Amino acid sequence: MIESTYAAEELIALEDRYGAHNYHPLPVVLSRGEGVFVWDVEGKKYYDFLSAYSAVNQGHCHPRIIGALTDQAQKLTLTSRAFYNDMLGKYEKYMSEYFGYDKVLPINTGVEAVETAIKLCRKWAYEVKGVPTNQAKIIFASGNFHGRTLGVISASTDPDSTTGFGPFVPGYHLIPYNDIEALREAVKDPSVAGFIVEPIQGEAGVFVPDEGYLNAAYDACKANNVLFIADEVQTGIARTGRLLCCDHFDIRPDILILGKALSGGVFPVSAVMANDEIMLTIKPGEHGSTFGGNPLACAVAMAALDVIKEENLAERAQYLGEIFRNRMQKNLVEKSDLVTLVRGKGLLNAIVINDTQDSSTAWDICLQLAENGLIAKPTHGNIIRFAPPLVMTEEQLNECCDIIERTILEYK
Ligand SMILES: Cc1ncc(COP(=O)(O)O)c(C=O)c1O
Repeated sequence: MIESTYAAEELIALEDRYGAHNYHPLPVVLSRGEGVFVWDVEGKKYYDFLSAYSAVNQGHCHPRIIGALTDQAQKLTLTSRAFYNDMLGKYEKYMSEYFGYDKVLPINTGVEAVETAIKLCRKWAYEVKGVPTNQAKIIFASGNFHGRTLGVISASTDPDSTTGFGPFVPGYHLIPYNDIEALREAVKDPSVAGFIVEPIQGEAGVFVPDEGYLNAAYDACKANNVLFIADEVQTGIARTGRLLCCDHFDIRPDILILGKALSGGVFPVSAVMANDEIMLTIKPGEHGSTFGGNPLACAVAMAALDVIKEENLAERAQYLGEIFRNRMQKNLVEKSDLVTLVRGKGLLNAIVINDTQDSSTAWDICLQLAENGLIAKPTHGNIIRFAPPLVMTEEQLNECCDIIERTILEYK
């Protein structure tokens, strides 16, 4: 058992010595979270402006979600799917009504949900669309981030994700993101089964596609009997100002992929939603996971989704996002040579640090932000993503904008 009296440097040294080096964290060691705040081991308080990559949309340790977790943990945690349990059916009905699909396939992490969608799409292609066996192709957009398994990195264009990990899974076709003509051309191939897309590319640096792109992409898929599959693991669950980012465009994906904030960041819960024609192509024994749909996950996810509606978090994200981008535009983009642009939707935003600076500038700014009581992290070199919990008040958001503006304007 590790004593809690370790100093921050010792805890960092432990991770460095005993953990794999597959992350490069900011040197902040957190030990407590509540709402929009986290505290480090020395008791310093920070605004969390990453929300565990948009998993903690409902705020840290939301009492309603933690209550559901602890109640359920004392009754039943895991049965496996070898037996029925008294939570899964209720959860499935809840999910189906909440998101408006016939069925849900419950699983654990975001990347597993993406893998599930890929398998579902292929199965549908062979059993419903009539693509010859093993010929199905799935289209992905360059710059995508859908997770870290081999099946998913096989679609990645990021050398950090792929270098040294080949050979890769075949059957994928890559086109440029936000290029509707490339998609229109690609879907003409009758062996194309689906197009998997992030409505906003979060990990790549919060790339918002042009107005009209997603609607045109959806129409191109429909015209060619290709499934439109939205990866809303990061953009979903109120983050961008609507329940789903696709709701901004009145698009209902054929397959919807959810994760992260589905549990309010309490533990891994993900899901794939689809109608019967697609979902029922997978039969017993063909896909699953020991933990997928466990009673604890069901209780936690229902509470987490209740909180989204009861606290109007989508509306709040929409409202606060406008204030955030307006302030960053007026006080940084127009006043500082360091920030070239701000972009995003709702409370999923990023600023781009001047390209002429080397990429350590964004890292150094994040170190300074932490010093000033706000934690955020660069993504892809010179881009800083800002994604606070959605339970933030307007006053708190303005205080955070003050910290960000002051930090950047004073940066040398
Ligand atoms: C759009 C998207 N899809 C999938 C994933 C993978 O989720 P997980 O890390 O839970 O596997 C992420 C994670 O950042 C993501 O942003």
